[in-house]
Amino acid sequence: MEPVKLAEGIFAVGVTDWNIRDFHGYSTYEGTTYNAYLILDEKITLIDTVKASFSDQLLANISAIVDPRKIDYMISNHTEMDHSSGLPRVMHRIGEDKPLFCSKMGEKNLSKHYPQKWNYKAVENGETLSLGKRSVTFMETRMLHWPDSMFTYVNEDKLLFSSDAFGQHYAGPEKFDDQMGDDIFPHAKKYFANILMPYAPLILKLVDKVTEMGLQIDTICPDHGIIWRKDPAKIIKTYVKWSKMEPTRKALVVYDTMWHSTEAMAEVIAGALTEEGVNAKPIHLRKCHRSNIITEVLDAGAILVGSPTLNNGLFPTVADFLVYMKGLKPQNKISAPFGSYGWSGESVKLITKELEEMKFDIIDPGVRLQYRPDAEGLAACATLGKKIAQALPEE
Ligand code: FEO
Repeated sequence: MEPVKLAEGIFAVGVTDWNIRDFHGYSTYEGTTYNAYLILDEKITLIDTVKASFSDQLLANISAIVDPRKIDYMISNHTEMDHSSGLPRVMHRIGEDKPLFCSKMGEKNLSKHYPQKWNYKAVENGETLSLGKRSVTFMETRMLHWPDSMFTYVNEDKLLFSSDAFGQHYAGPEKFDDQMGDDIFPHAKKYFANILMPYAPLILKLVDKVTEMGLQIDTICPDHGIIWRKDPAKIIKTYVKWSKMEPTRKALVVYDTMWHSTEAMAEVIAGALTEEGVNAKPIHLRKCHRSNIITEVLDAGAILVGSPTLNNGLFPTVADFLVYMKGLKPQNKISAPFGSYGWSGESVKLITKELEEMKFDIIDPGVRLQYRPDAEGLAACATLGKKIAQALPEE
């Protein structure tokens, strides 16, 4: 990615990772970017770095604008290594003694990642740093999504460096929202669902706080994907909507299957939901990546989970999905389990336990069928689908 001018003296200097397809378990079929930003002022400032393997490219992008050795300040908004593992190379180049601004937790966490004794300057929430003609204000955003996370706001340009928030794993020729239109929103939704969903209550509080402060934001520069300059309010409003997780008339019937019995049940349940006007679909866990399913979970009102019993337990992909979903803390879901079995048949009980732990509203004990589903068993599945449909809100 070539440097891109964002405002007078402010540039995006990050890199594009065209070929990444798995980001710690999240499918990134369209690659991603690691964004970093350069401010030219009396104090030349770099905000965030990139993955270590892209450090030379970052330095080359900076060099196209200014000699990296002239950088005065380094700001680290977030310790996760897609943004910080470039620090050793960058600090070595710009000067190991240059001030490195981060949150207090950032100093602790960076010290636990890198042995170098950098010149840390831990900042307070709300602290302002003058760069010369401009100043930046730091906003702690603890647990959005690491304890060290913070935003950096450029007061004069009304420009927010938002770290992971408002990001998307997307690599393309476009750099700005106005170049892409609403096509960027599915990528932003997937990012929100897989990275930020557990922190939805904190996002609502943060948006309230920023609104109370009357902070004007003309541009949002996240650390992944495109920059929001045409309509930053739209992604903020959409974050509020996603964070509320208000139930919709949409149902997911997520399952795996060994000899197509649980699959037949899933299809009948989904069919009955569809007949009742619900946006429903069966989702086979070995045909669809968990991170794509979670994107659908975000705005679904109902999640039904089905598994065969394998060796007295859940089918492994179902266990994987339940663990992943539980960690992401989706809210306001109605639910029911289902499954087939040969002799012991523990799967429905095990799914129920997980759904209870997720605080889903289990509106039916579910359907549990032995070996091949017969007509009576499939009718029970249809009844389950109709019961779920009746419990979902009308639109
Ligand atoms: Fe893009 Fe939390 O790192």
